[in-house]
Amino acid sequence: MWRFVSRRVRAASRRSESDGALISSQVSTRLFSARSTTRDYTIVDHKYDAVVVGAGGAGLRAAIGLSEHGFNTACITKLFPTRSHTVAAQGGINAALGNMTEDDWRWHMYDTVKGSDWLGDQDAIQYMCREAPKAVIELENYGLPFSRTEDGKIYQRAFGGQSLDFGKGGQAYRCACAADRTGHALLHTLYGQAMKHNTQFFVEYFALDLIMNSDGICQGVIALNMEDGTLHRFHAGSTILATGGYGRAYFSATSAHTCTGDGNAMVARAGLPLQDLEFVQFHPTGIYGAGCLITEGARGEGGILRNSEGEKFMDRYAPTARDLASRDVVSRSMTMEIREGRGAGPMKDHIYLHLNHLPPDVLKERLPGISETAAIFAGVDVTREPIPVLPTVHYNMGGIPTNYHGEVITVRGDDSDSIVPGLMAAGEAASASVHGANRLGANSLLDIVVFGRACANRVAEIQKPGEKLRPLENDAGEKSIEWLHRLRNSNGSLPTSKIRLNMQRVMQNNAAVFRTQETLEEGNKQSKLMTCWR
Ligand code: FUM
Repeated sequence: MWRFVSRRVRAASRRSESDGALISSQVSTRLFSARSTTRDYTIVDHKYDAVVVGAGGAGLRAAIGLSEHGFNTACITKLFPTRSHTVAAQGGINAALGNMTEDDWRWHMYDTVKGSDWLGDQDAIQYMCREAPKAVIELENYGLPFSRTEDGKIYQRAFGGQSLDFGKGGQAYRCACAADRTGHALLHTLYGQAMKHNTQFFVEYFALDLIMNSDGICQGVIALNMEDGTLHRFHAGSTILATGGYGRAYFSATSAHTCTGDGNAMVARAGLPLQDLEFVQFHPTGIYGAGCLITEGARGEGGILRNSEGEKFMDRYAPTARDLASRDVVSRSMTMEIREGRGAGPMKDHIYLHLNHLPPDVLKERLPGISETAAIFAGVDVTREPIPVLPTVHYNMGGIPTNYHGEVITVRGDDSDSIVPGLMAAGEAASASVHGANRLGANSLLDIVVFGRACANRVAEIQKPGEKLRPLENDAGEKSIEWLHRLRNSNGSLPTSKIRLNMQRVMQNNAAVFRTQETLEEGNKQSKLMTCWR
């Protein structure tokens, strides 16, 4: 169907789209033209040692590590890096630094294994919790402006599911934070470091597909430059997917509208498996109606959930951890209260989060961001009124299966795991799986820095900077262009936005906190009707 014409090939130096730095990678331009139309597609070819897709915390940390190891690294991102969803993380990052009480990474590991409902990968959890203090100190050295204790140490707050002494020592204070804007501080810090290390950014480039050769080796990605519509083939020895989660499969989520699971979709289209996609976390405190996140740090600083009768109902469901029980427990308890008629408001369909008993200076110093969010999105003055909240889709524990080095895993014919050469994944797109069926709050910022760095370290073990790349096959990327061409020229009766909205509503109604055979079957039926899928 496609004629592949080599128009001109040039070794090029040119200005990077994002930062004006010179790109020294090889760039060449080719032309694809479709027999069925007069339309031509210009393809720009790039060669790098490594290509990172996504510029949130995981992507940036991977890119920094790769650049530090001397790899010529491209980072492709559909958003300007500091707009990535990491920016929205509020509460903090867990590490057994021991700044507030004695602590131990093994206690953190115990909580994470338990919090995962015993479905996490314990090798990966051990690696993450053991590396955590080092990772946080590294961020401090990079310049992340953490909140401080009186004596100048990194301040650590209480967070859900965190205990001391293997659950026997009471609440742990393990969550290092920058007020309630930790993700914002982290993302900006990492972006600064990536710039310092000369990572080459391709901003507002949308990665379309992996380039897989006939031996099942990943050789890069094909991407669309959203500014001018040109297509770009990034040929690389290592490809790291750090594309974030798919929270926007739902109608209401704390996730940004950009969290559309692009990397997961690329992997699925390449015929590789995804794992545990049903493990979707509901954060207990999304603002009722708006879905915006109110950090668990609010409860860490002393906030309390109450039902319509003013009862602190978590005392009944989790007498020890109470409002700081793990998220699955709190979200289910809130849903039970609403189902049993004790929800707040005229429709009895939400719960109140009270912060009004906390000293105003604590709110100002530790929770300034959510105080503002509550005022804007719920019209609430947190010093006087409760915030109406509801469990809201927040995080995907499942995703692209990897080992704890970040290498992507597939399943062979004999059912054994095998590594997909050239392909890695980190962050919410990946499933290492450190979170099992339920992630503990403040383990996601940790996950992205630890596994972003692990990917870079692994590449340094198996590849050399400047190593000759295996040549691309003649038709590399052609299928993706065909697919894009079909999408661009499709003329079905439903616009993409309508199909997406229909599917989001079905997910919201039929795959919620409680799911049954009946609700899922009904959802399946509806999605087929609403999207005209057959
Ligand atoms: O509640 C929060 O601040 C969210 C943190 C997290 O999901 O890790």
